[in-house]
Amino acid sequence: MKKIIGNFKMNQTPSQTKDYLINFLPRVDATKNEIILCFPATSLTTAKFLVEGRGVKLGGQNICDEEINHNMGEVNGVMIREAGAEYVVVGHSERRSKYKENTRTNNRKIKIALKNRLKVILCVGENLAERNTLKMLDSLKNQIEESLKGIYENELQHITIAYEPIWAIGTGKLPTNKELENAVKAIRKVICDDFSEKAGQSIDVVYGGSLDAKNIGQYLKLDTIDGFFVGGSCLDPAGFAQIIKLI
Ligand code: PGA
Repeated sequence: MKKIIGNFKMNQTPSQTKDYLINFLPRVDATKNEIILCFPATSLTTAKFLVEGRGVKLGGQNICDEEINHNMGEVNGVMIREAGAEYVVVGHSERRSKYKENTRTNNRKIKIALKNRLKVILCVGENLAERNTLKMLDSLKNQIEESLKGIYENELQHITIAYEPIWAIGTGKLPTNKELENAVKAIRKVICDDFSEKAGQSIDVVYGGSLDAKNIGQYLKLDTIDGFFVGGSCLDPAGFAQIIKLI
């Protein structure tokens, strides 16, 4: 069973979410793959009632990195969990580049998420400069180690790592199978070295960046990948269902 994550970013009002799910849900079989839809926080409650009993899961796109209530405009773990989220995305590159989040904020968010019984989708990935100067592996190692500082091995079962090379997000550019395999291998090695061989082999690692119905096929044979993280191509319900059918 693969994990398929739809990342809606700042799309879908509550009424659009309702229309989306009415169209999408009958098209997918949530017993075949684990489907996780990450809607904006304002749409989670609407989605929660619509996905009930359908096997499709929900995720939040963000969680505050502090537990104190004096955090204007932020949402905390209790809020998104009660709104329907089982998962939360941490460390997406847009949060890192636009909101100056970093591995320290990731680390705090992961701890708060786990404390609130939310599963974490931790995004990591190198930028183009790191890729061009062969610093990709160091960058991945650093992002993972810093983000997972103080996390216990038994908590890794609640963490999925989304490998999202920054140069591939929304650009139409994709890693080759070999490049993707190397990156996933490197991610697993960091977990093996820092936790255990078993942890490194069993942690879920998914790929995200410019996936669509035409290109996803090239990755389906790679059994080191546990699933896919889909941004732009999840916005059309029929199109996303089509991608899921291929997996
Ligand atoms: P994309 O976005 O699929 O549009 O490249 C990936 C993501 O959500 O990070």
